[in-house]
Amino acid sequence: MIKGTIELKGDKSISHRVLILASLSKGKSIIKNLSNGKDVERTINILKNCGIVIKRTKKGACVEGKQLFSTKKRFYCGNSGSTARFMLGYLPSQGISGILYGDRSLSKRPMNRVIEPLKKMNIKLNSNTSTLPISFQASTPTAYHHELTIPSAQVKTALILTSLACNQKCSIKDKFNTRDHTERLIKYLGYKSNHYSKFIPKGFNYKVAGDISNAAFIISAALLIPRSDIIIKGVLYNKTRIGYIKVLKKMGANITISNTEERYNEIICNIHVKHTPCLEGVTLSTDDVTAMIDEIPIFSLVASYAKGVTKVSNAQELRYKESDRIKAIIYNLKKGNINIIEKDDGFIIKGPNILYNTSFKHFQDHRIAMTFEVAKFILTKKLDINPKTDSLVGTSFPEFYKILRALNV
Ligand code: S3P
Repeated sequence: MIKGTIELKGDKSISHRVLILASLSKGKSIIKNLSNGKDVERTINILKNCGIVIKRTKKGACVEGKQLFSTKKRFYCGNSGSTARFMLGYLPSQGISGILYGDRSLSKRPMNRVIEPLKKMNIKLNSNTSTLPISFQASTPTAYHHELTIPSAQVKTALILTSLACNQKCSIKDKFNTRDHTERLIKYLGYKSNHYSKFIPKGFNYKVAGDISNAAFIISAALLIPRSDIIIKGVLYNKTRIGYIKVLKKMGANITISNTEERYNEIICNIHVKHTPCLEGVTLSTDDVTAMIDEIPIFSLVASYAKGVTKVSNAQELRYKESDRIKAIIYNLKKGNINIIEKDDGFIIKGPNILYNTSFKHFQDHRIAMTFEVAKFILTKKLDINPKTDSLVGTSFPEFYKILRALNV
């Protein structure tokens, strides 16, 4: 069983945004509880390459915001889609020219979704293939009124960051209600309007709420391992991110939310989870999918054990993540003897199933790796750390094994 009380490092999505806004600010910002995953390190390195002084402290960072200047021409985004898409909007509009590039997985991911609207804002970008590497030139943004055509908070944030350097008013409509951390953060920093235009915040203090997407792996392990009983404190409880918690509750999961409070214009809470032997299958709505897009791999594992039919549709975005996550889920669950059918935009699982212990494939994707490490842990009650998986997990959740070990009794 897993048992105990934990706190998690800061949410990855918020960590990227807070660092970028701190670099834009005039003066010093103190950020506590930053994510220490490799993805966030990529954002830090690029900002440092643009003259921003960032000192890591034990639990966070101190950032001296000022006008960017480039000390390099090539900027490495590693595996991080957020870094790449945010920087495509942020760097040229802050007067930087250069080339963004990434690892093998990131170099395959679609960038047109951000290139096209940015070009309409006069941001000068060049890519023959609409994938990284992409070269860009310092550009003066012009006003643009954009409506998201795909549910992507990364696209929305790239556009907002560009708008914050624009002398005219810009607007971005998001009918999908994708995660709204950028909007909340700039509001916390004093930006009042619903339109976006030039904004230079003052240095600020910020403590990042615990990562809800990382919490999802621990919550799922607790639900599936008999006699488990855990509490995760200070976790992000933003309505655009809690699709998974809502869906688990619909499935009958023994989850209690307490101590909800507002901090830094975000909501945090404590999550109490107990092992739940009889979960029920569920059909996800389009809104559920958006509010749990990163949790769908681990959800597929939990749904495999649930009684009845689980349906996921309108989730084609999963095909454009660090791997084609629909393919990765289908491959692994089928290998584990789960009754699952692939759809273009999702999958259907008929349960309950008994997962067969097999060798799972990680598809070089941190969330697929963690999902099937949880599966192995449930089946074997052991955590075998191998350096390759450990390195993958470090993309977003370096404490993954340490936390599961500490909770394991
Ligand atoms: C993120 C948005 C989502 C999510 C990613 C982080 C963000 O991506 O999958 O892990 O921080 O804005 P999309 O914008 O591509 O949906």
